[in-house]
Amino acid sequence: MRILGIETSCDETGVAIYDDERGLLADQLYSQVKLHADYGGVVPELASRDHVRKTVPLIQAAMKQAGLTPADIDGVAYTAGPGLIGALLVGATIGRSLAMAWNVPAVAVHHMEGHLLAPMLEDNPPEFPFVALLVSGGHTQLISVTGVGQYSLLGESIDDAAGEAFDKTAKLLGLDYPGGPMLSKMAQAGTAGRFTFPRPMTDRPGLDFSFSGLKTYAANTVRQSGDDEQSKADIARAFEDAVVDTLAIKCRRALDETGFTRLVMAGGVSANRTLRKKLAEMMAARGGEVFYARPEFCTDNGAMIAYAGMVRLKAGEHASLPVIVRPRWPLDQLPPVAAA
Ligand code: KG4
Ligand code: ZN
Repeated sequence: MRILGIETSCDETGVAIYDDERGLLADQLYSQVKLHADYGGVVPELASRDHVRKTVPLIQAAMKQAGLTPADIDGVAYTAGPGLIGALLVGATIGRSLAMAWNVPAVAVHHMEGHLLAPMLEDNPPEFPFVALLVSGGHTQLISVTGVGQYSLLGESIDDAAGEAFDKTAKLLGLDYPGGPMLSKMAQAGTAGRFTFPRPMTDRPGLDFSFSGLKTYAANTVRQSGDDEQSKADIARAFEDAVVDTLAIKCRRALDETGFTRLVMAGGVSANRTLRKKLAEMMAARGGEVFYARPEFCTDNGAMIAYAGMVRLKAGEHASLPVIVRPRWPLDQLPPVAAA
């Protein structure tokens, strides 16, 4: 079975083709980062218009890369939410229309399920059950996962998502949008321990997060200590260490609570090297295992949508004919998929 996957929920156009026997046959990505950089964040209308320009050419490129014709495609998966409504509508409309024209089923994929299953694209995929840490630009969630579509929310951010906190703090350190990866790079030159930021909400029980205070803390530190390059690097380091530590503390709690021995991290922030290292060390010390995708499959991409679409299509799920997108869509509302 070969599935074409289309991702257009935010500022990346991703198209991929996944074959359930041969794996990934094509993977195309176009990032709109430059388009939005001048505005310091994603401008939804510009994002939609750029997806209109890029999606069809990327589908053509993916078909060429895989050496396939439309007759070789057995289904079309598209991100139906959560995300920016206009951006979602572009990929969903193109995907739904192609499926109709090619006379194959379409499947509407949840973006965060795409992220959550992305580590399955790697050589050593996780088995169920596991705790998933989803950390992206829009979400920070801990989820108990007992199977595909069998998700229960253990905790989430009550304000900014981890990626959002990275981006906002990066902005006040003078970095362009999206500053997360650049802040992380800057932190490498920082001195550990010059500044110590709080680990929000770790002093009380529970698995929720709060990251909005950290950017305020960073702003105050900049005001007090100046914004010379070394101070900025030290602040970046203190910020990153605080986020990574906080995430690790809550992951440990979630593993203790569930009794699970596997931890899966997914979403853009799971590309962060300090976080990967910290969680890998923590899991090694506990005798458990951590799983994450290669960095390019942590951030938005078409491969994760093709993969999640394939799993749901195999389980018999089909999208109806109307194009329906859901800018807000709780992950735990997804129907469970019976084990194969
Ligand atoms: O999953 P993603 O590509 O898009 C959403 O679904 O939101 O996540 C993007 C987020 C951005 O906030 C970006 O700054 C952050 O992930 N990010 C990182 C790193 N790479 C991406 N944050 C910290 N360190 C990184 N290496
Ligand atoms: Zn994403």
